[in-house]
Amino acid sequence: MRRLARPEDEAAVHRIYAHPAVVPFLTYETLSPEAFAPVFADLLAGGDFWVWEVDGAVVGFYRATRLPGRAGHVVHLGPLAIDPDRHGEGLGQAMIGDALSCLEAEGALRVELTAEADNVRGLAFYRKLGFAIEGVQRMAYKRAADPDFMDEVLMVQFLGELRGR
Ligand SMILES: CC(C)(COP(=O)(O)OP(=O)(O)OC[C@H]1O[C@@H](n2cnc3c(N)ncnc32)[C@H](O)[C@@H]1OP(=O)(O)O)[C@@H](O)C(=O)NCCC(=O)NCCS
Repeated sequence: MRRLARPEDEAAVHRIYAHPAVVPFLTYETLSPEAFAPVFADLLAGGDFWVWEVDGAVVGFYRATRLPGRAGHVVHLGPLAIDPDRHGEGLGQAMIGDALSCLEAEGALRVELTAEADNVRGLAFYRKLGFAIEGVQRMAYKRAADPDFMDEVLMVQFLGELRGR
């Protein structure tokens, strides 16, 4: 089940966030627990950062940020990850399926996200969950260890009265 993240989730979220199977696909280079503290504080301050719990353990997280004003029907999803020890068990599908239901109930009509062009698993995951590719943001991402810049794939899913548009 989902619940809003709390300060005491910091270590569990950091363990997933900094894992070698996850960190290439999130915003920051690998962060020490100390360096992660302000990043986590920022996530908490938004009031829109959720953890996914199974049997009392944090197994995943996502941020769902509502855009302001005339884009108020739009939600940006991410960062998002599942504990790599639990990949492939359907947890991501459960977590994001639930998030989409909650967002639709709250009136969100457009949910958007970006995934790196080499995130084969992530792109397949989002497609399975009903997201479609809307475009490519060229060279929008750069990992310190990579020789070149990376494209970001913009994906979108419409909900409510925009479903099917
Ligand atoms: C992407 C991620 C959240 C998926 O979570 P997960 O719990 O492993 O995914 P699920 O087990 O719920 O899989 C759901 C569907 O996604 C797709 N999928 C998941 N893993 C896949 C893989 N390795 N290869 C291809 N498709 C895959 C499949 O369609 C799968 O459905 P199926 O098992 O019925 O075929 C997880 O792999 C992750 O945390 N990755 C690292 C961080 C990341 O990439 N975040 C997104 C940044 S934009």
